This record gives sequence, structure tokens and C-alpha cells, in this order.
Amino acid sequence: TEGLTVALLGGGTVGSQVARILTEDAAVLHDRVGAPLTLGGIAVRTLDAERDWQADPARYTRDAEALVDGADIVVELMGGIEPARSLILRALEAGTAVVTGNKALLAAHGAELYEAASRSGAQLSFEASVAGAIPILRPLRDSLSGDTVHRVMGIANGTTNFILDRMDAEGASFEEALAEAQRLGYAEADPTADVGGLDAAAKAAILATLAFGSAYTLDQVSVEGITGITAEDNAAAADAGYVVKLLAIAERGTAEDGTQGAVLRVHPTLIPREHPLASVRGAFNAVFVEAENAGELMFYGPGAGGAPTASAVMGDVVAIAQRIVRGGPARLRTPVAALPALDPAEARTSS
Ligand code: NDP
Ligand code: HSE
Repeated sequence: TEGLTVALLGGGTVGSQVARILTEDAAVLHDRVGAPLTLGGIAVRTLDAERDWQADPARYTRDAEALVDGADIVVELMGGIEPARSLILRALEAGTAVVTGNKALLAAHGAELYEAASRSGAQLSFEASVAGAIPILRPLRDSLSGDTVHRVMGIANGTTNFILDRMDAEGASFEEALAEAQRLGYAEADPTADVGGLDAAAKAAILATLAFGSAYTLDQVSVEGITGITAEDNAAAADAGYVVKLLAIAERGTAEDGTQGAVLRVHPTLIPREHPLASVRGAFNAVFVEAENAGELMFYGPGAGGAPTASAVMGDVVAIAQRIVRGGPARLRTPVAALPALDPAEARTSS
């Protein structure tokens, strides 16, 4: 089979890790997909910027449109509304599959993008847009599609959880903790979206879209961030046996006139120390789902950062590539070489 060309729009924190995986794991990916995945190029603003992982210098370009036009799969990791929106629409309108982690764009212009995808039949996947490495969107969309979801609630922003955790556990200042979160690649290019709660609000809108089936937008979410939380607030909460967490909540509700709908909100919340959400440390995320028949589910894992987010991006890329190559549903992960079973009493493992 001929190879598939992947156009990477953005080579920053997440994009550089996607480029690394496409390059270093090329043989494994080839085997899983049944055809090679070729990195067509990486669209950036500054060609010679220093990067977390450096691809072949010839791969970097400022001509994102040409990359899109030559691609089988477009991976958008630029962030922001424009030019990301126009480039994604350009791809979808040409029938090219798109993978994105851009929650800000999805929460503002999701309906437009979903409609463009459904008009052309191109696939639009965005697992990385909520809770980093945690598989949460596909379970909501696929695994729970025979159930009724009542509520989705959780810690959906790694930066603010990292800041609150550092303030609580180490007495760090807000500014120190934010600077560290930026250094570690958790924060948005403009971190006011993190600390002001807008990033978590975009995720609440996306989670609600998957859970309740309508394209919710950021302006439908009531938002309070963590900028008002002081070290004194944290200390008072700790003395009373609580910890402060920023929660994103999407739940079914009833208006005064009896209309059924979705209620979306983000705000700091006092969580009892013994509650499972209280033990979510650093930039980890946790998402609770309450469904009619399934009951309570909890999804937990790294919520931000280059490699964890790239894992979710690559999951979408492989699923799309498998569908393109086989013209059918994605096949299960198979090892490259059959791995023999070892004696658990003798084998050394990392756990
Ligand atoms: P970065 O700011 O690290 O990287 C953005 C990249 O896009 C850079 O390579 C930049 O180029 C390029 N870029 C930006 N604007 C343009 C433009 N107009 N034309 C060409 N290239 C452009 O962002 P992240 O990697 O952190 O995030 C990327 C996306 O993934 C965002 O939507 C973010 O919300 C999302 N995301 C991020 C997570 C994280 O933990 N960081 C987690 C989940 C999702 P240059 O390098 O030259 O500046
Ligand atoms: N800035 C985001 C966060 C990245 O801190 O959670 C992951 O979406």
C-alpha cells in the first residue's frame, strides 16, 4: 500500500512530540496501519526556533496551506482561532481527515467544523482536546452511546491543578507555580485561559457536546477561574480538611419553565481530603461520568504536557489511517512481533 502523508500544523510543545513519535516509531506505526505514515512537513511561524524535539530542518515550512493540500491527514496543533480554523475547514472541505487538540477552536466554532466534516464525509477527531492523554471523548461518544449520561464532572485543566497543588502542598506562590507549569509545557500560549477557567470551560463544552449530543459553546458555560484563590484560602481549606480544586461540570438540568437542558459551569470547589478528586496531583486530570445504566465511571491520567497529549493525537491519527487503508473499522492494536508470555514469578517488570 502507498504511504499516507501527515501534515503537522504546529511544532511546539505537542507538535514536536507528534513529530518525534511519527519519526521514532515509524516501523511500529507502519505495522499497525498497514502502510507507512510519512511526515509531510511541519508548519511553524519561526523556521529556526529551538524545539523540544528537532525534526529534519527541511521539514519545517511557513506555508501551511501547501502542506494541507498535499496531505492525507492534517494534524492541527497550532492553537488559537485563526489561521487554525481556516486551515481545518480547507482540509475538511477537500475531504481530508483532521485531528486537532484545539479546544478553544472547538468550543467557539465546533458546529461549523462538524458540519464541514459531515458535508464532505471527512473525519474530524479531537481526543487530545480534553484531558490530555486520558481517553475520555471516545468512551463518551462510542462506549456509552447505548446509555444516558446524566453528568460529567472533573478536573480538566492540568495547569490550574498543578498551581493549586503546589500552593497547597509546598506553599508555593501562585506566580512561581504558574511559571513552573509554563516551563513544563502544561499551560496555554496565553495562560490567562488556564487560570481564568476558560480552558476548562471549553473542555466542559466539548464534554457536554459528546455526552448530550448538541454543539455547546464556550459562552454557554458559567466560568470562575482560580485567580482569586490565595495562599490563605488554601491554608484555611486545609485546616478544615478540604482541598481546593477547579472543577468543570456538565450536567442535565431543568429550567424554571420546565425545559430540559444542559448546565455547564467551571468554578473552584472545596473537596474533602478523602474524596478521590482530592488525590489528583500535579498536572493530572480526572473525569467522573454518571450514566443511567453504567453508574459512576472515573477516568484518570496525565491531563497536559507534550508527550501525553501527543499520545492522544497519535491514537486519532492511527485510527483514521487504519480506516483509510482498510476502508473499514479500526483494528485492534497488535504487537509487531509476537511477545512470548513469561513466568510472572521470574520475569522482571517495571511495576
Ligand atoms: P505551542 O504554543 O507550544 O505550539 C504552537 C505551534 O504552532 C508552534 O510551533 C508555532 O510556531 C505554531 N504556530 C502558531 N501559530 C502559527 C501560525 N499562525 N502559523 C504557523 N505556525 C503557527 O502550543 P502547544 O503545543 O502547547 O499546543 C498546541 C495545541 O494543542 C493548542 O490548541 C493547545 O490548546 C492544545 N493542547 C495543548 C496541550 C499541552 O499540554 N500543551 C494539551 C492539550 C491540548 P513557532 O514554533 O514557530 O512559534
Ligand atoms: N493548558 C491545558 C491544561 C493543556 O493545562 O490542562 C491541556 O489541555
